[in-house]
Amino acid sequence: MTERARKTPGRRSLLGAAVLGTAALGLPATAARAAEPGRGHGGGHGSLRDLPVPTVVGHRGASGYRPEHTLGSYQLALDMGAHIIEQDLVPTKDGHLVCRHESDITATTDVADHPEFAGRKATKSIDGISYTGWFTEDFTLAELKTLRAKERIPGTRPDNTLYNGRWTVPTFEEVLRWAEKEGRRRSKPVWLYVETKHPTYFRKLGLGLEEPLARLLRRYGRDRGNSALILQSFEPGSVQRLARLVDTPRIVLLSGPKERPWDFVESGDPRTVADLVKPAGLAWMASFAQGIGPTLDLVIPKDASGRLTTPTTLVRDAHAKGLRLHPYTLRNENSFLPADFRRGTDPNAYGDVFGACAAYLATGIDGIFADQPDTALLAAADHAGR
Ligand code: G3P
Ligand code: CA
Repeated sequence: MTERARKTPGRRSLLGAAVLGTAALGLPATAARAAEPGRGHGGGHGSLRDLPVPTVVGHRGASGYRPEHTLGSYQLALDMGAHIIEQDLVPTKDGHLVCRHESDITATTDVADHPEFAGRKATKSIDGISYTGWFTEDFTLAELKTLRAKERIPGTRPDNTLYNGRWTVPTFEEVLRWAEKEGRRRSKPVWLYVETKHPTYFRKLGLGLEEPLARLLRRYGRDRGNSALILQSFEPGSVQRLARLVDTPRIVLLSGPKERPWDFVESGDPRTVADLVKPAGLAWMASFAQGIGPTLDLVIPKDASGRLTTPTTLVRDAHAKGLRLHPYTLRNENSFLPADFRRGTDPNAYGDVFGACAAYLATGIDGIFADQPDTALLAAADHAGR
């Protein structure tokens, strides 16, 4: 089968089956169609052009207020008005895609309190870094579902620990169903922003992420160029693989300038992020992606004391290649803010995040990832009304 043919398998048969089922059940065709995965507002039709600019991305949901990557965190982000809500994806042992920032679930679940899993503790090298803990790829989905999510940084965000134990680790399919339900309820699509985590590492384990992700996107009608979903990865090769499987919009994430994407390390590609943000690198990414997700520091570097300096030419250069920019990550707490926007001496207290966000938005970026989407939305409104 060709790559192009593989992009839309089964759509005709899915619709055919649904129509037959509708007739058999005696349901009005329009009502039944709206309830199908991928149909109506629940299905997530939209165009990148429909997204407000600046676009506020709920980073891991509303992770400033709830344990990250839980349905509670996603719901709060949506209720706050985030324009698009982020999921990071890793696989289980039996190939299900679940929402975690990394497969090491030691910090974000209660796995350490489960004696039945004590023997699963392991030390692994992932993308050249050693980790000791418990990993999703060693758990079946049924086993993973016996765990409860908890706050990653309780020292910084003690209030969030109130919600420890309230939610399980969601599967991506559960999130797609939630987004469909909320889309129908709100009569407008719920946008999702979906990242493949460590795709080369997982492919070597026989747990490639892109194919099951593409299958889910097709099943829920989010495999099209006008789907209300953006795909993202730090590995350009993963973005390219996704581009061969689905038409869903894509962005390439960019880390520090000296770093190399892990698929480049594995394949011997010598380019660094500093190379990718040059015009030739941007032109290359524009051949298979609609945008980039750089660090905020690639947009406005900091000096040795952590204060903002002069913006780089990245916004202008990326726009010249037709690429959107959605940098990451804005957080309210002093410890995460540039030094010139910290207030007082408590690292966990909120600083002048509105001032910092205004500085970033003034560069012309098209959106921003934010742990506290309500704050970023207010800053975006200030920016629009300036
Ligand atoms: O995907 C954008 C941003 O989330 C990238 O950073 O490490 O939080 O996934 P990370
Ligand atoms: Ca992410």
